[in-house]
Amino acid sequence: MSLETTRQLKHDTPDHDRRLDGMAQGVLGTDMDRPEGPLKVSGRATYAAESRPEGMAHGYLVRAATIGRITGSNAEAIRAMPGVLHVLEDERMIRNAAQGMAGQSPVQKQGQSWYVGQPVACVVAETFEQARHAAQAMMVTIEPDGTHVFDAEAEGAEIDTPEKKQVSQGDLDSAMAQAAFSIDHDYHTPSMSSAAMEPHASIAQWDDEGRVTLRGSYQLLRFNKNELADVLGVAPDKVRILSPYVGGGFGSKLGLAPEAVAAALAAQALGRPVRVVLHRRQVFETVTRRSETKQRIRLACDADGKLTGIGHENLVSQLPGEVFSEPVAQGTHFQYAAPNRVVGHNIARIRRSAAGSVRAPGEAVGVTAFEIAVDELAKSAGIDPLEFRLRNVPDKHPENGKPFSSSTMEATLREGARRFGWQHSQPRQRREGEWWIGTGMAGAVRVNMMIEAHARVVLTGTGARVECDMTDIGTGSYAILTQVAAEMLGFAPAQVETVLGDTDLPPASGSGGSFGAASTSTAVYLACMELRERLAAKIGVKETELTLKDGVATHENRQTPLAEVLGDEEWRALGHLKPGRAGREVRQATWGAIFAEVAVSDVTGETRVRRMDGTFAAGRILNLKTARSQCHGGMIWGIGLALTEALEHDPRDGHMVNRDLAEYHLPVNLDVPQLGVHFIEERDDWANPLQAKGIGELSICGAGAAVVNAIENACGVRVRRLPATLDQVM
Ligand code: MOS
Repeated sequence: MSLETTRQLKHDTPDHDRRLDGMAQGVLGTDMDRPEGPLKVSGRATYAAESRPEGMAHGYLVRAATIGRITGSNAEAIRAMPGVLHVLEDERMIRNAAQGMAGQSPVQKQGQSWYVGQPVACVVAETFEQARHAAQAMMVTIEPDGTHVFDAEAEGAEIDTPEKKQVSQGDLDSAMAQAAFSIDHDYHTPSMSSAAMEPHASIAQWDDEGRVTLRGSYQLLRFNKNELADVLGVAPDKVRILSPYVGGGFGSKLGLAPEAVAAALAAQALGRPVRVVLHRRQVFETVTRRSETKQRIRLACDADGKLTGIGHENLVSQLPGEVFSEPVAQGTHFQYAAPNRVVGHNIARIRRSAAGSVRAPGEAVGVTAFEIAVDELAKSAGIDPLEFRLRNVPDKHPENGKPFSSSTMEATLREGARRFGWQHSQPRQRREGEWWIGTGMAGAVRVNMMIEAHARVVLTGTGARVECDMTDIGTGSYAILTQVAAEMLGFAPAQVETVLGDTDLPPASGSGGSFGAASTSTAVYLACMELRERLAAKIGVKETELTLKDGVATHENRQTPLAEVLGDEEWRALGHLKPGRAGREVRQATWGAIFAEVAVSDVTGETRVRRMDGTFAAGRILNLKTARSQCHGGMIWGIGLALTEALEHDPRDGHMVNRDLAEYHLPVNLDVPQLGVHFIEERDDWANPLQAKGIGELSICGAGAAVVNAIENACGVRVRRLPATLDQVM
């Protein structure tokens, strides 16, 4: 084995080389299938709960039925039940994903039940059935500790208004007073769940050296490893997390959920492997939800439809003491130009379950409400909503004046309209039988980020291996990292093996915030550049003159098989991306436009989405198929946001009423028409050497507004409280 060399990039400046455009293999940017796809569809991909270590015991969480001080339990009687091995009442298991990346300790501790549904114990038994039976018999005594507020808009809700999150520029009140046209409305979005298909599950096992291996289902392994070490009070190198396959996360697996800590603590206490699986209702209750929002939006424009004022003042909810809060106005800061601006951010401290990141935290609900408001203003100004947006495309960041690294907003609007065949008339003009037909559109924006990432690439004469702790949460990480290495090193994808989801491998970015593809691909790119340099040096040419294709190096008409260059050697290189000033000097974002046609029943108020089309720009598209799938997913979330999804909380105690997939209504196949997804290929040199940006969240940011706007165009009813249920539309 040869030594491992490192190539580091501190990302301070744009990279104009566009090396990937000159590579010969031709596999990047194609619609290559997922390499792990056959394993997944044939049941051979092992998900978190599916391992069967020798001697495994089963844990089952016990939830708090009320709020207050925990004063006792019948744990002793439970311990005597058949098969019961252990009753864990350790408050360290009360973790939630809101803390995740912040490295924050949970606030729900000190013998308290903070919200209904909070885990308060874990019963471990020989079999799953014994554990469940005993857990259901367990009674935890909770004494009321006063009165609490369960609704952000209720009298007496304690409201935080963090100073750093308020913006005021110019004079919005005057702009409103002098406007040719203006609107001022409240919009509401409900509490929502990530509802990932795979429930949270962990199997923990300690070895004789005091090291714990956790097979779990997580998004950000290098953070999760530190979190688990922190909660267990061990050094990070005493923790290994394996998450090779993750059945969706959408934010709910950014940070450790209670089952991971419960499994680790119980396995330690018992000296044998313990598995804890959350059932669907526990997933809803104990992992983070998206906060409900109340958004007051004020917009002012002149007679030509040029925006002169923007106000976006928001109220979200969170448990007392938690740091995260839904950044509702994240897109508002830059989506449209207007000199007079107010952004307000308020957090009501209430006793619903902890709020956290859910796919596109901020823009998913913020851009959606904002794009409904823009539609309303365009209507009152008598300007076509597409044309109205085109008149308000910003040429620089409207708040701080910095340039955008790319601005493709106008191109996505124009191309999207062309593809959809945008036609728009007054409401209640088209009717087919009982159905009113209407069209609506919305812009989509999402901030673009990168975070630190490492990846190792091992080169042999016949192929390559990519190794890091990156996760693939269904997004296509295996595919794109395979493609980047195949393209850079000149191999067919089948000759590249990608090994992910193991914290014993170099720490990658993990999957979150749409930063995974750009960050970890860059680390793989850097490792491959390092290997290309070493190959070029060995052959005696300049790296830039080296063409690698099908395992052969070509240089000045000479061909050298890599097998000849490397012989039996294995060359190893580590790529290391460090985000630098590039993210500060320019503003990076991804852009899109969504168009929808709906039919609204004049008899029942039911809305059917008949056509939906999205056009997106997110830098270089690394894999057409997986990128398109991300956009399909986001647009389907948009349909859910517009029409069906809402977590209902009981007004008496805040508990979730519809905490399963029967009652929490996600769009199903019959709710989703054929979706069109189109990309405008960008080369954003500021993004990274691949010119690639995040695509995982963009398409949800505004998609729901296109549907809600189409409802208004169909039947004349403007819905400002999502979802647009039948009672509102009738
Ligand atoms: Mo995302 S909400 O950062 O998985």
